Amino acid sequence: MAEIKACIFDMDGVLVSTEIYHFKAWKRLTETVLGFSIDEKFNENLKGVSRAVCVDLILQHAGLQKTPEEKAELAAQKNKWFLEYVQTEITPANVYPGVIEFLNVLKQSGIKTAIGSASKNAPLLVEKLGIKQYFDAVVDGNMITKAKPNPEVFLKGAELIGVSPCDCVVFEDAKSGVEAAKNANMHCIGVGSPAVLTNADFCISSFTEMSLERLKSVLI
Ligand code: BG6
Ligand code: MG
Repeated sequence: MAEIKACIFDMDGVLVSTEIYHFKAWKRLTETVLGFSIDEKFNENLKGVSRAVCVDLILQHAGLQKTPEEKAELAAQKNKWFLEYVQTEITPANVYPGVIEFLNVLKQSGIKTAIGSASKNAPLLVEKLGIKQYFDAVVDGNMITKAKPNPEVFLKGAELIGVSPCDCVVFEDAKSGVEAAKNANMHCIGVGSPAVLTNADFCISSFTEMSLERLKSVLI
């Protein structure tokens, strides 16, 4: 019978409020370099997916074509701005409310923990936020080749901590991430709106709502 042996957390938009900086940097890129704008609704498609796939989605959205070199430049410019925001605005205070408390509950209950993030900047962020000690493994965008909704990032996390996928619960704020968890045969708790994260087992709006009992209710 399935039980919960591990929780795997997406990072941007789940553990920390960095998703807004990804959006700000993409918006700045489209407005200043590409000559159009993106809104929050379109941004839902960019959440959870790799930097290179985001460039493709943005160009496709605007009906633009670029060479591989131009695409690489666009991605590099966006990342430069993202890192500027992170360096100046992100501190441990940006870890979302209730996250550290819930991670402590998991530790006391013997439930393993991992991060499963598409971001190549995850190691830097984890360091800057001072949260490394709460996780048994960190899988980031440098360690995977297939973007969410491919399950690679979560399957790698489960493998590193030695837990079967069916005994893992993923926390995700992105549609593509919820699909990745389901494709990995894992349970998934959405962090955000159930209207957006339609395939999550259930959604929370904050980790202050989480408890061991609420976690176990994902099995029902
Ligand atoms: C995900 C974010 O965590 O990481 C996406 O949700 C982002 O918005 C992706 O595009 C890749 O991040 P990075 O830091 O490698 O550009
Ligand atoms: Mg996310």
